[in-house]
Amino acid sequence: MSHGLLASRSALPRKVLAGVVLTVGIFVPAWAGAAGAASPAPVRYLPHLKVWILDTERTSYVLGLNERNELQSLYWGEKLASERDLFAAHSRPGIASFDSSETVTNNEYPGWGGRYYNEPALKVTLADGVRDLVLKYVSQEIRGDTLVIRLKDIQYDLFVNLTYTVFPREDIIRKQAEIQNHTSQALNVESAQSGVWYMPVGEGYRLTYLTGRWAGETQLTREPINPGKVVLESRRGNTSHQLNPWFAIDVGGAADEEHGRVWFGALGWSGNWKLVVEDTPAAHQVRVTGGYNDFDFSWPLKPGENLSTPPYYGGFSSQGFGEASRLLHRFERDEVLPDRAHPHVRPVLYNSWEATEFDVNEPSQKSLAEKAAKLGVELFVMDDGWFGQRNNDRAGLGDWTVNRQKFPNGLGPLISYVNGLGMDFGLWFEPEMVNPDSDLYRQHPDWAMNFPGRPRSEARNQLVLNMARDDVKEYVFHALDQVLSENNIEYIKWDMNRHFSEPGWPEVPVPEQKGIWVKYVRNVYEIIDRLRAKHPNLEIESCSGGGGRVDLGILERVNEVWTSDNTEAFDRLRIQEGFSFAYAPKIMSAWVTDVPNMNGRSTPLKFRFLVAMQGALGIGANLNKWSPEDFALATQMVSTYKSIRETVQQGDLYRLFSPREGNLTANEYVSADGKQAVLFGFLHSQQFLWPAPMIYLRGLEENALYRIKTIDNKLIVAPGIYAAEGVSGAYLMHHGLRLDLRGDYDSSLVILERTK
Ligand code: GLA
Repeated sequence: MSHGLLASRSALPRKVLAGVVLTVGIFVPAWAGAAGAASPAPVRYLPHLKVWILDTERTSYVLGLNERNELQSLYWGEKLASERDLFAAHSRPGIASFDSSETVTNNEYPGWGGRYYNEPALKVTLADGVRDLVLKYVSQEIRGDTLVIRLKDIQYDLFVNLTYTVFPREDIIRKQAEIQNHTSQALNVESAQSGVWYMPVGEGYRLTYLTGRWAGETQLTREPINPGKVVLESRRGNTSHQLNPWFAIDVGGAADEEHGRVWFGALGWSGNWKLVVEDTPAAHQVRVTGGYNDFDFSWPLKPGENLSTPPYYGGFSSQGFGEASRLLHRFERDEVLPDRAHPHVRPVLYNSWEATEFDVNEPSQKSLAEKAAKLGVELFVMDDGWFGQRNNDRAGLGDWTVNRQKFPNGLGPLISYVNGLGMDFGLWFEPEMVNPDSDLYRQHPDWAMNFPGRPRSEARNQLVLNMARDDVKEYVFHALDQVLSENNIEYIKWDMNRHFSEPGWPEVPVPEQKGIWVKYVRNVYEIIDRLRAKHPNLEIESCSGGGGRVDLGILERVNEVWTSDNTEAFDRLRIQEGFSFAYAPKIMSAWVTDVPNMNGRSTPLKFRFLVAMQGALGIGANLNKWSPEDFALATQMVSTYKSIRETVQQGDLYRLFSPREGNLTANEYVSADGKQAVLFGFLHSQQFLWPAPMIYLRGLEENALYRIKTIDNKLIVAPGIYAAEGVSGAYLMHHGLRLDLRGDYDSSLVILERTK
């Protein structure tokens, strides 16, 4: 029987074994679970092999120490049935004198040093000018779901703690590194990565990732992985619309939505990040290194100081991209989002931005609020324009005091009115920004990031505050805290409408100035964390001109994100599909707005509602222009949404027809308890009288019966399908359903309730 090291503590005695310092723990049978059940611990060490196994419910990740005492990645994929199948790590032989064994071996956390030529995880310059770093194993500690492996340079007291946390239910593992300077002099970190994920050695892999732009975020993009590197990154200060820190890899199209091996990963960082997808020409190691972007990066580490890297998550699915997404969605809901301990559904919100833009005032907001309340809206959000001299985008950012021309008695009367209508109140801020035409900038021009004497490039007439400065951080915290303390505000939309430029920080010594990229984000996180601690009921939406700040770092702190400034429903199908590969529907704020919209397109109100009902539903239309028929339909749709939102937001998503591939988009959501399933269908544009294709449902129980409800008469069915006792899951999944969708932008919703 194999044995696992279930508990080891730093207080336990240490023993040196053939040059390897092992923390000695209490050996108990790995198969002994808490109640004696045959459930192995998620993290186990096999001392006879010097191998660690990290098990989730369906996957295994295996690491080992090779004969050079390097930490080597051995396996990542479907769960290994038996520890008897494992072997000790051994390096791969080098290739001639050009590709060293160190390079062609899958080093789990390679320092840049010796004959190592792949993308390193860590690159440093030591005080004496040495730029050579070779990391070897020192010790380990296992604490339940967590493994900490300690590495050290072969000469200097530079240590790295690698922390692995296993999330068994979601098949996800989190990697994080902490670089520790125990030398007596300062050293400089030039690249600090969180880790590397290795695919099995092979050729013909395919990369799936998300790219985009303002008003065109999360476009799913696929390309073959060939020898060389593909760099996905942000150099813009925040996560960016242009690329998102998520990837998925399969073997050359062998996977689809339902089948095949898919490895995926994501970084939890809202600043400059980098993912290097590499296929090494000599050995076809396919590896994805991720962490802080090393572009313009430099982090001096004084003696005794540490630098920790962002969390880097990885997961594996043997059932295609659909399951990979469902695992990530579940992980975000269970382990990342602020309400992870007590998940609750997102409210239906109204946001005034597209209706009023900057022209907000008490009477007009009250009038919109009355109309929104009648629709069944639960959260009324006032967007930009309520503060300082904010009559357009040229002034006011930074002055977070209520504009008394627009709100003579402050926000109190509006908020009470909104609350009296039965809705919570939310407010827009753009805390990291300043307009040169603002009191804040006139008082503190040095607070904008700048290089002295150089131009300060404006975007949308604004500059970026240097949030890395602690005085700026304190100002922003107190400005927001004051508004939140004086008013009953349940929700803020935290916006960021431009990227960095001239990222100078002249107030600190030159060697520390490049730290602005990291310190800025840490301070933004700190402000949010402090605001939430002080205002425990506060909920936050992350926005950056739409989906410019969506990542697993900000999602630890915000409840939802503004997916895109593009609210045009047909474009949204693509944006939302890409979004759903990495992020849960619950996070995805989606509004119904007016037409004609972007691209000059007009889609029916029903189509717009059904598109937005696939996420956290909001309404952003100018309700003053709506007809009684619009109100009637909207009221019905909001009510229908409330009856299915638990399923949409907390359930499992099955992407059945992709908007990238044909004329029909169809998505199905199945509730966590399996009692409800909902099917959304959208026809883009009918041609030649062709009928919409059969839709095969997924995720149902074959022998269970489901009662069918539709919101229209668009379901083409066999006689008797509406029978009270329902139709079987087998029929719905194998025979399928067809929707009678016609013309342009037709849509439908089918709700299935399990009867037994
Ligand atoms: C950004 C946001 C919009 C709106 C405006 C306000 O563009 O994405 O939703 O809040 O700012 O200026």
